[in-house]
Amino acid sequence: DSIQIEIVEAVESTNSLLLQRVIDQGASAGRLKQVLVTELQTQGRGRRGRTWVSGLGDSLVFSVLWPSQCAVNTLSGLSLAVGVAIVRALTLFGIRNIALKWPNDVLSGYNKLAGVLIELHGDMLSPGTVIIGIGLNLRLSNVTKSQIDQKVTDVASVAGQMPDRNRLLAILLKELAKMLDTFEQHGFEPFVEEWERHHAYQDKAVQISFPDGAVKNGIAIGIVPDGALQINTPTGIVQLRSGEVSLRGL
Ligand code: BTN
Repeated sequence: DSIQIEIVEAVESTNSLLLQRVIDQGASAGRLKQVLVTELQTQGRGRRGRTWVSGLGDSLVFSVLWPSQCAVNTLSGLSLAVGVAIVRALTLFGIRNIALKWPNDVLSGYNKLAGVLIELHGDMLSPGTVIIGIGLNLRLSNVTKSQIDQKVTDVASVAGQMPDRNRLLAILLKELAKMLDTFEQHGFEPFVEEWERHHAYQDKAVQISFPDGAVKNGIAIGIVPDGALQINTPTGIVQLRSGEVSLRGL
């Protein structure tokens, strides 16, 4: 199984470029795993219409094009499995105490270390092409930090030194490829326990916000195999499939 890696100096968004290729070239663009890495992303996109801010050299920015054999409607847990693959890679790289925030933020000490944006091309019932975009903070400049309205950290701060980017990318790609093979055969189920072990809010009091704006308080009790977050609320157990979760009091 081969992976083709392309490195470009600057691009608006690695996810957008891969997505555009799939749209332009159809299935032929998605015959093998492709990786697009960039030094500088000028219009990085985050989840829910947010932006991903990153200056030159600040972060590891890349997207993986995965010609999945999975029907699009079976991919709901994929973004969580990507989080597990990132935790595994960082652990192999010697970085411990990494936590996951549903659905797919990677944290260190409640500060965001990496974000994941998954985009799909295809219809619900047939195999779809998946684009997995990852931004991993390496060493954020003060300019970048001042533009981000969240608590963030970077690998250099957590590890105490600037990481070898190429080595880190190689480990990440290997773990992602392994994860995708497992996911393709068994879905998210084999990753549930590991995800919960790293869950930043496991058994903690949280506030959940539904897409329609409704808000509920409860205790985060875990994840179900389709990737929904389970919250024990005063009115019963709620499964969150889209929306946001935050630690109560933060
Ligand atoms: C988030 O935290 O909301 C997700 C951030 C995802 C950022 C990555 S960087 C590479 C890829 N290309 C993009 O435009 N976004 C993703």
